[in-house]
Amino acid sequence: MSPNEPDAAARAILKANDRGGYTVPNGRVYPFQWNWDSAFVALGFDRFDRERAWTEIETLLRAQWDDGFLPHIVFWKDDPGYFPGPSVWGTGKQPVTSGITQPPVAATSVRKLWESAKATGEGERYRARLEALFPKLLAWHRWFATCRDFEQRGLVVAMHPWETGRDNSPEWDVPGEPIDVSKVGDYVRRDTSHLDSKMRPTKLEYDRYLALVQFGRSTGWDHARIAAENPFRVADVGMSMILLRANRDLAALANELGKCDEAGEVRGWIDRAERGIGWLWDEDVNAWCSRDTLTGRSSGFVTSASFLSFYAGLSGPRRDAAMRAHFDRIAGMVEFVMPSLDPADPGFQMIRYWRGPVWAVVNYMIGTGLAEMGDPDRANRVREDTLELMRRNGFYEAYSPIDGTGSGGDDFSWTAAIWLAWADGD
Ligand code: DGY
Repeated sequence: MSPNEPDAAARAILKANDRGGYTVPNGRVYPFQWNWDSAFVALGFDRFDRERAWTEIETLLRAQWDDGFLPHIVFWKDDPGYFPGPSVWGTGKQPVTSGITQPPVAATSVRKLWESAKATGEGERYRARLEALFPKLLAWHRWFATCRDFEQRGLVVAMHPWETGRDNSPEWDVPGEPIDVSKVGDYVRRDTSHLDSKMRPTKLEYDRYLALVQFGRSTGWDHARIAAENPFRVADVGMSMILLRANRDLAALANELGKCDEAGEVRGWIDRAERGIGWLWDEDVNAWCSRDTLTGRSSGFVTSASFLSFYAGLSGPRRDAAMRAHFDRIAGMVEFVMPSLDPADPGFQMIRYWRGPVWAVVNYMIGTGLAEMGDPDRANRVREDTLELMRRNGFYEAYSPIDGTGSGGDDFSWTAAIWLAWADGD
């Protein structure tokens, strides 16, 4: 491929997946708007259509509930090709949405969009749009501070594996065991009619996903009750790091807009996170891991999310050195970093969703964090591996870390967006 070819192909994917104001991750497998997908997609659009980039996030925030909650899927138009659709969620909202959220990347993306507009002299043109987005992002983060940090640990307690974005990570296996799947009933999956089932979660995992949806629905999607009673309540290392980073970006935006009270409120959440996040350090494996709040047990798995501490702006010599040692060990075992599960783990599977494959968006966050924390060599390895996967194989949902094979959906929006955001050196 000539150097410009992937660029043109990536733009074409975003345009083809644009449904008018929002972008579907992949038209067959995921035919609606997904929350964190859109946050990354906006970064891709920003490279050739700034207007459209802002619209992507504005459209997402149009689906925000009155309590600040921002759903993980917005079902703007019906599509029978996806399960579970609106009737299963039963949230009764307009627009129709799911009842769980997703990793809060949007504030970080909005800061990026704002800085890129300012850098090219267009800041004033976008200030009013930033002013309009800011209170919505703040309301969402406030919702996290209450409904996903019920015990004020300074962490994000996920109520559903889908909420973490890392659906079938082995981190959820043991915490998922108490979920009663006996009343789930019959259902027909659509994902495995689009994709090889070897790339997807198992039937038991799907039963658990649906049992949790049914529980949420039985509460009328009362997020306070869910926080207190849900059978799955895991402090997710990925979401906790991502929210800490997003709060730093939100505080910067508050300062930019002269909103001192709001900046103070966000600073309070950052302080709480910095005090509490050490609970996710696992001394036995010497790494950042998710921890079950119901049992207090660490997952003990080193995953790609473990490496997001740099992106979160955390630094400490002992833990950083341990994470760098894990990085070097894993980098020596694979052709392409960063596998979603440590390849030394017996459960590693190179094409099964979040049990091995490399995800471009996670790599983008890991690489960004490493670069910001003064580790250019490892940052370059992550970036170069990610771009090489796309050059060789196109824009897949994920890739095998062993041989680079694409896995999941092809022509994937957020992968194309990461190419655009990262290929020219940002
Ligand atoms: C799916 O359906 O696989 C999604 O990841 C849920 O968000």
